[in-house]
Amino acid sequence: MFVPPPKGFLRRAATTRSPQTGIFSSGAEVPGVRRDHLLEMAPSLKTVGTVIGVLSAASSVIALTNGVGKLPVMGYNAWNAFACNVNETLIVQTAQYMKEYGLLDVGYNHVNLDDCWAMKNRTSTGEVVSDTTRFPSMNNLTDQLHALGFYAGIYSDSGWFTCAGYPGSFMHEEQDALTFQSWGFDFLKYDNCAIPFDDVIREGMVGKYQRMSDALAIVAEKTGTTFVFSLCQWGWSQVWLWGASLSHSWRIDGDIGPYWTSIASIINSASFITQATNYYGRNDLDMLEIGNGNFTYDEAKTHFTTWALVKAPLLIGTNLASLTSEMLSILKNTEIIAINQDPVYGTSISPFRWGINADWTYNATFPAQYWSGPSENGTVIMLINTLDEPADMFFNLTESPWIRAGRQYAVRDLWTHTNNGTAVRNFTAVGVAPHGVAALLLQDAGNEPAGIMPPCAGEALSQCTAENGTSYANS
Ligand code: GLA
Repeated sequence: MFVPPPKGFLRRAATTRSPQTGIFSSGAEVPGVRRDHLLEMAPSLKTVGTVIGVLSAASSVIALTNGVGKLPVMGYNAWNAFACNVNETLIVQTAQYMKEYGLLDVGYNHVNLDDCWAMKNRTSTGEVVSDTTRFPSMNNLTDQLHALGFYAGIYSDSGWFTCAGYPGSFMHEEQDALTFQSWGFDFLKYDNCAIPFDDVIREGMVGKYQRMSDALAIVAEKTGTTFVFSLCQWGWSQVWLWGASLSHSWRIDGDIGPYWTSIASIINSASFITQATNYYGRNDLDMLEIGNGNFTYDEAKTHFTTWALVKAPLLIGTNLASLTSEMLSILKNTEIIAINQDPVYGTSISPFRWGINADWTYNATFPAQYWSGPSENGTVIMLINTLDEPADMFFNLTESPWIRAGRQYAVRDLWTHTNNGTAVRNFTAVGVAPHGVAALLLQDAGNEPAGIMPPCAGEALSQCTAENGTSYANS
């Protein structure tokens, strides 16, 4: 069960902060430290006396409860569109597009760097240095991003080198975390390349990531800056079992590609581990590819719907200068975004039926098709047509655990933005497009009409019994 952090501890509410309030301006007291950071320290941190104490005693709990990362991060990451071809001008221009297109207004409030921002060598004192040509001043970059209303994210690696061969943070964790803090960053993605030999690390995967989680806790203690911490180790070592203890999100799979088979494969991986996601810790299905490759409109909708409804981070990863209005409209579906950012339910939707495959079948081409979950405003249903031709998709309402027996439901279509009548006992989405999706919100509309036979639905039918003992089982 989620236990909220102490009142007053939250540094930022991901979707409500106004950059105009001065939150992001540097405090005069400590250069590079934002004023709000100085005010809000976790009581638990104050009681930890020494750095050694932080490292050895329950440090993962300290990092976990740093008060940020409650909801999925929404924003931008340049990797999928630009890989290493990034510089300050491009990133700031991208942030300007985010604002101009109204993406900031609907919640995309992070702009994150990925790999390739650094010089290849550290200084003689071990400091990591940003590329002197492409990123001449990280403070200048983050100041501009903050002034535009965005949080700023940076990237590093838990091993010797990043995946593109730049310095990794292994054995420099605290030093790098302090550097990132002093540069004004708010978010850290942490990759898994160039893993040190076992006789060096002697910690394994969990320990390798724990090192940076601890370092971020120390940075929070020293400076008040609380990072959102995003693990990127591709779902190794069953990260969904331990990721929440030291981070806010964890990639569950290898790198996404801008084509349907990649989307289907990631949906398949996610379908088996949805229970891992809740507030403050979530499966990360990788950055969005909407706008890239040759997705059909329906494939792009399915990609976005799944990522949003499983409560994954939503990081746009396309060249915004050439984004079509059709793809932009997908990214700006506020009815879908509202479920991703639900303030009442932090859990993912889950499959209630796999569909063309038997339940629990692992199939990267034909993943689970029938999903549901609770939301602030009703029961969410997601139906994915994994076939290459249109399909009618039927379900009995009580297949979803979030439906009440004996009630009827008003059906809201979250893509057509229309109310599609009242469902009694079952619903059929007619003509779902190839690789397309139906996203529905079912809202309780009172008791179903009297006298419907059989008197029980779904699994209950096999035990369906009148008060006097008469069985209606399988009637
Ligand atoms: C790995 C990650 C990607 C990206 C690249 C950068 O492949 O999984 O998301 O960060 O490294 O080199």
